[in-house]
Amino acid sequence: MSAPHLTVSSTRLADLLHPWNTTTSISGRTGPAYRTLADRIRALVLDGRIPLTARLPAERGLADRLGISRTTVAAAYELLRTDGYLASRRGSGSWTTLPGSHTEIPSLGLSPSTTTGVIDLGVAALPGPGHALHRAVADAVESLPTYTTGHGYLPGGLPVLRDTLAQRYTRRGVPTTPDQILVTPGALAAVTLVMRTLAGPGDRVAVESPTYANVLDAIRQAGNRVVPVPMTETGWDADTWRDTLRTAAPRLAYLIPDFQNPTGHLADAAIRTTLVDLARNTGTTLIVDETCQDLALDIDPADRPLPTAAFDRTNNVVTIGSTSKTFWGGLRIGWVRTTPDLVRRIAATRASFDVGAPVLDQLVTHHLITDHEDAILDTRLPALRTARAALAGALAEHLPTWSFTMPVGGLSLWVRTDNTSSLTLTETAARHGVRIAAGTRFGTDGAFEHHVRLPYAHDPATLVEAIRRLAAAVGETQRTRTTAYSGYSNATCLA
Ligand SMILES: Cc1ncc(COP(=O)(O)O)c(C=O)c1O
Repeated sequence: MSAPHLTVSSTRLADLLHPWNTTTSISGRTGPAYRTLADRIRALVLDGRIPLTARLPAERGLADRLGISRTTVAAAYELLRTDGYLASRRGSGSWTTLPGSHTEIPSLGLSPSTTTGVIDLGVAALPGPGHALHRAVADAVESLPTYTTGHGYLPGGLPVLRDTLAQRYTRRGVPTTPDQILVTPGALAAVTLVMRTLAGPGDRVAVESPTYANVLDAIRQAGNRVVPVPMTETGWDADTWRDTLRTAAPRLAYLIPDFQNPTGHLADAAIRTTLVDLARNTGTTLIVDETCQDLALDIDPADRPLPTAAFDRTNNVVTIGSTSKTFWGGLRIGWVRTTPDLVRRIAATRASFDVGAPVLDQLVTHHLITDHEDAILDTRLPALRTARAALAGALAEHLPTWSFTMPVGGLSLWVRTDNTSSLTLTETAARHGVRIAAGTRFGTDGAFEHHVRLPYAHDPATLVEAIRRLAAAVGETQRTRTTAYSGYSNATCLA
């Protein structure tokens, strides 16, 4: 059993459990408080919001935070231990794990290494580009002394990186100056900062439905109201967006037009024009998240629509960028592109938030973009195409009733699971050694129960094994359901 590598504080766990309700569990069942607590923590582990091998807070601390008795927390932890979701060692506390023992899956390049033998399909992210990253870090360390003479607090970001990013936008067809860029610790922090600056509690934020799960959480935690706008099988429906923006007049709309997470759709120039025009008319600012934009798998660069900001004549689009999919999530560098005035306002907002992004990591990013970006993508994109084909092939073979539209880019398949509940499946799949994100994570009010997001950010052999395990888990849920259904139909016949 591996040792814990991260501690989840009682404050963080209480936030994740918010709103805490002692009577209703995730499944809607009522029951004892300890069971509800165990259910909720298990769901957080299964959908990846609590990582594996993370140390959970001490019983007393969590009990105080949630305003419940220590006995309730102790009983919940005990249940999680019995079910295989928690392991404990005297003196080391309790840390998260998954049921069953599974053999180690070899990492063949694309796959993030697994520490538990569990294949983690809950996260759509790639490992770092080893050699290029080492080079960029070495170059960054070498140039660091030039920067350490100052205090290092740079609310807009490191000038050399702002310049590199501005040039990159200009090359992509959106003329940009360095004072239009603000560097952040990742795209999620960038979205959060923009929301804090432009919206107040109670304001509405329109989102694609489904969308990137963590932004849904960020919107709710900021006290804003989510207005979901359904995606169609092919992407964005202009009429639905028109109706929603006119009726709800949201303060903000959060969009992922480039290889949307989780569907992988790419918005064409016509829909970009429509969305920008509609938003201008309703006074809605568009937050356009381009985190996945470099992961173009099946689209000729000549056919690629210009970035959404290129369709914006009234400075109504705020663009978010990130290094997490192009290079590595562990770098934790993202940015905002907007007007110099809004950059100044966001920089003022961040004084009480994060003050700035780490200088060394900004230097590493500058070197990665300047010296290694093309070479990294030249290796990464073909590998992703192969992995995507392997995943699609394995699904066709082992789960032929599941369906999906092949995405033209991004990192995942958004799969309709026929009649299998993804909520039930997450749990069964964990027992079979695969972690998946239930579709409900990507929507509101329980939508997408019959979907799962399956990333192909692993090597082909791992993906094939993952789908074999998932198929076995589906078989198990179906057998259980058949039994449950026969009981249910007998029961209904009684009346
Ligand atoms: C659309 C989208 N935005 C933002 C993020 C998070 O980016 P970062 O790691 O830069 O915070 C992700 C990560 O999956 C994503 O898919």
